[in-house]
Amino acid sequence: MMVEAFPICFFEQVPSQAGFTDRFGRKLTYLRISVTDRCNMRCDYCRPSADAYKAESHAQILRYEEIERIASVAASLGVTKIRITGGEPLVRRDLPQLIEKLSNISGITDLALSTNATLLGKYADDLVKAGLHRINVSIDSLNTLRFRKLTGGELAPVLAGIQAAKEAGLTPIKLNTVLMRGINDDEVAGLIDFASDIGATIRFIELMPMKQGLNWEKHYISIDEILKRDDVKERVDVDTALQTGNTAARYLPMKDASGEVGFIMPMSERFCEGCNRLRLTADGGLRSCLPADNQLNLRDLLRSGGSDDDIRAVFLRSALIKPEIGTYDFDSDTEKRSMIHIGG
Ligand code: GTP
Ligand code: 5AD
Ligand code: SF4
Repeated sequence: MMVEAFPICFFEQVPSQAGFTDRFGRKLTYLRISVTDRCNMRCDYCRPSADAYKAESHAQILRYEEIERIASVAASLGVTKIRITGGEPLVRRDLPQLIEKLSNISGITDLALSTNATLLGKYADDLVKAGLHRINVSIDSLNTLRFRKLTGGELAPVLAGIQAAKEAGLTPIKLNTVLMRGINDDEVAGLIDFASDIGATIRFIELMPMKQGLNWEKHYISIDEILKRDDVKERVDVDTALQTGNTAARYLPMKDASGEVGFIMPMSERFCEGCNRLRLTADGGLRSCLPADNQLNLRDLLRSGGSDDDIRAVFLRSALIKPEIGTYDFDSDTEKRSMIHIGG
C-alpha cells in the first residue's frame, strides 16, 4: 500500500545554491532506484514467506521513461550517484536500455548496480557498453548446499557472473554478505579469503528487522561480536578505528595489507548522521529513509500529467520528512515493507 504524496506548497521549494539538503543539513546526492520487486531467488531475510509475498503488477511498475525522467529531475537537484537495485534488477527485461538512458544524464558521475550476479554472465558486456560503472554483489555463503537452502538458487552461476563482471571491467567489485547467526556466521573468514583471492572488497551487513521470512531475534548477530572472533582477528586489523563518512560501510584494513573489509551496521551503529540517500521503489514511491514507510507517490503524479517542477517539489518534500535517524519498528502488527520491495 503506497502512502499518498502530501499536498505541496510551491513557495517552499526553490533549491538553494548549496544544493539539495534535508532539515539536518545532510546533502542528498545519492538515489537508489529499484526497477523491480521480482527476483529469481528467495532469500528469507529479504522477503516475506512465500504465501505472504505478492509482486506488483506490470502496470504498477514505473516504465523506463518514467524512471529516466525522475532521475533527470533528481540530477537537476544535485544527485550525482545512482544505484540500480531490485528485487533482482537483471530479471527486468532490457535493463541495459535503462542504464544507457541514465548514463546520459548530465551530472550523474557514479552509476552502479546491486545484483545477485546470477545473470551477469549474460549481461555484463551489455551493461558496460550501456555505461554502467560498477557492481555490488550479494553473496551469503560459499557452500553450495547452504547457498541453495538460503537463496533457493545456485552458487555456480553467481561465481561465473562475478568472473564475467571482472572480465568486462565492471570494477571495483564489492561483495555484500548479510550475517545470520547459526546460518552463515561461521563463514566470515572464508568469505574474506574468497574476496581477497578474486580482488574484491567484502562488506558484512547486520541483519535488519524488516518484513521478512526470517526470525530476526534468533538470527541477528552484531559486527562487534564478529570482530571478537579469532579467525577474523587473524585477518582483519580490529584495533584500527573504523572510518566514518557518508557511506553506510565502515572499513578496516586487512592484516596482510592486501585491502580492506567493510562492515555495515544499521542496528548497532547507526550511520544516519552522514546519510546522503533517497530511494525510489519500483512502483514509484519516493522514500527518504530505508525503514521509514512514509513514502511519497511519484508514479501517480507522473501519470496525471505532473510537471518537472511538481516532481522536484516531491523530492524537496521527501527531504523535509527525512527522519534524523531511521528507526526499526519491532511491533509485528504494523504494516512494514520488505527489502525486496524497497531495494536494500
Ligand atoms: P556503495 O555505493 O558501493 O558504497 O554501496 P552501498 O553500500 O550504498 O549500496 P549496497 O546496495 O551495496 O548496500 C548494501 C546494503 O547495505 C543494502 O542492501 C542495505 O542492506 C545496507 N544499506 C545500504 N544503505 C543503507 C541505508 O541507507 N540504511 C540502511 N539501514 N542500510 C543500508
Ligand atoms: N537485513 C540486511 N540487509 C538486507 N538486505 C536485504 N534484506 C536485508 C535485511 N533484512 C540487503 C542485502 C542484500 C540486498 C539485496 O539487500 O545487502 O544483499
Ligand atoms: Fe533476491 Fe537479493 Fe533479495 Fe535474495 S537478497 S531475495 S537475491 S533481492
